[in-house]
Amino acid sequence: MLTLALSKGRIYDEAVALLARIGIRPTVDPDKSRKLIIPSNREGLQFLIIRASDVPTYVEYGAADLGIAGKDVLAEYDTAGLYEPLDLGIARCRLMTAGRPGMYFKPGSRPRVATKYVKTAHRYFANQGIQAEIIKLYGSMELAPLVGLADCIVDVVDTGKTLKANGLEPHELIMEVSSRLILNKAAMKMKHAEVTGFIAELKAALSQGEL
Ligand code: ATP
Ligand code: PRP
Repeated sequence: MLTLALSKGRIYDEAVALLARIGIRPTVDPDKSRKLIIPSNREGLQFLIIRASDVPTYVEYGAADLGIAGKDVLAEYDTAGLYEPLDLGIARCRLMTAGRPGMYFKPGSRPRVATKYVKTAHRYFANQGIQAEIIKLYGSMELAPLVGLADCIVDVVDTGKTLKANGLEPHELIMEVSSRLILNKAAMKMKHAEVTGFIAELKAALSQGEL
């Protein structure tokens, strides 16, 4: 049995479209069911439905053999126990700094930065000689500069509409983000044929072009 961890929402929708290319379908819609373990129509493959930021944890500990996680999430995680064999090209966005128009920081300054990407934000500013004070939030980061909680934010941006609606603008690009297939190193050894077969199928599906 192969177990694939994925999150509801945009990753799920795009992952299901990709899996459909190789004839795999979940047998239950997680939006209509409270089940967290979902069988697929293929014997020997099931899904775990979990929070996006929990996917690397389930895979690292072997609770799932494989998972689909955004590069933004993986950048926050110590991925030493994981392989990342495929860029699936789904849930594309950019991890950026953003804030009020014209708000930039000089080396030596100490801005307050609100984000859920604590490690990445710290690394990014430190590389520029800026010792940012990072304030951890779990969502709605765009609010923080509006109410004086932070000078800027680090968050993912796609269309830019959320920033614009809150009078903010994107500033600097930290990384391009897409979702990756991740794999537990032990599963690669113990279930080698199943895992490599599945990766090869997905690779072939990706070669059919953009979803
Ligand atoms: P969690 O539930 O763990 O807090 P989340 O709310 O960020 O995670 P989603 O919003 O479903 O979960 O996002 C999952 C992934 O999709 C993110 O890790 C990122 O890689 C990508 N993503 C997030 N926002 C966007 C967006 N607006 N457009 C495209 N991709 C996005
Ligand atoms: C994400 C992100 C931004 C928004 C960016 O939030 O945190 O708020 O998308 O997308 P845009 O540039 O197209 O406006 P999401 O919609 O996933 O809500 P969340 O805070 O629940 O994750």
